[in-house]
Amino acid sequence: MSQSPANQRVIIDTDPGLDDAVAILFALACGQFDIVGLTSVAGNIGIEASTRNSLRLLAAMGRSDIPVITGAAKPLRRAGAELVSIHGEDGLGGLALPQPDRAAGSGAVAWMAEQLNAAPAKSLDILALGPLTNLALLVQDHPGAATRIGRVIAMGGAVDEPGNIGARSEYNLATDPEAARIVVTAGLDLTLVPLDVTRRVRVGPAQLAALRGTLAGNLCAEIIALYFGNGRESRPLHDPCVMLLALAPELFGVDQMALQVDAGDGPEAGALERAEGAPPTKVAMRVDAPGAIALLAQGLRG
Ligand code: RIB
Ligand code: CA
Repeated sequence: MSQSPANQRVIIDTDPGLDDAVAILFALACGQFDIVGLTSVAGNIGIEASTRNSLRLLAAMGRSDIPVITGAAKPLRRAGAELVSIHGEDGLGGLALPQPDRAAGSGAVAWMAEQLNAAPAKSLDILALGPLTNLALLVQDHPGAATRIGRVIAMGGAVDEPGNIGARSEYNLATDPEAARIVVTAGLDLTLVPLDVTRRVRVGPAQLAALRGTLAGNLCAEIIALYFGNGRESRPLHDPCVMLLALAPELFGVDQMALQVDAGDGPEAGALERAEGAPPTKVAMRVDAPGAIALLAQGLRG
């Protein structure tokens, strides 16, 4: 399936969210990730729904063995902005899923630090699908544990592509620019997956049939159909690109950039800016979109 080692140990930090849900279902179905836990963060939807949806997705897949730990209820400094118009009042477009079959844990950031301190250094990756609030708090409050992180692969930002919040700002980074600035300048092994590639990995009605055939695939096809809302013929699969890059980096073209994040109070807060002297950040700028969609379909088949 890919050139990366199987059974990558990962923490998934997420604000599910319809595209987060596809990413999580793919990670569960493809059999290539050892998912240590899901940490919820406020973003697309508030922290209660983000946590509940994480539990519901795991219950639907019979994976109540995977812990869900509640994370940040709001950005570091700003008010959040939920995307109900895209993800629906419940954050999953009303998708029929089991109700949570257990309670979530609390204290995601301390839990992340515990996992990192207990694991061999650099053996545990973080796949970040929402605002970077939890990750920034980990860097700030648990710097020793943060140095033990393997890869951080985060969906966020826009480089040459227009933003989806401001002209140049993307939702995850714009929701918590202070957190994004901390993470981008922390010297982590960070790969950003920006709109420059995620907008090219699109699924429309014609591709849905190829996803169906398994529980995960059927759920993803249903989710993507819900995601089409507002009559759009296709939707970009932003967050699944994080898992696809973790699994098959050969499908992506990654450049090194010295970046900073605009953390001002203007309309472009959260935008990525070139900044001489900033630590190098890997940024996925090119993608084999047909190959990525084929891998998505293959992984959903298990
Ligand atoms: O800009 C896309 C990102 O914002 C995705 O993570 C999506 O889930 C939303 O959170
Ligand atoms: Ca997300």
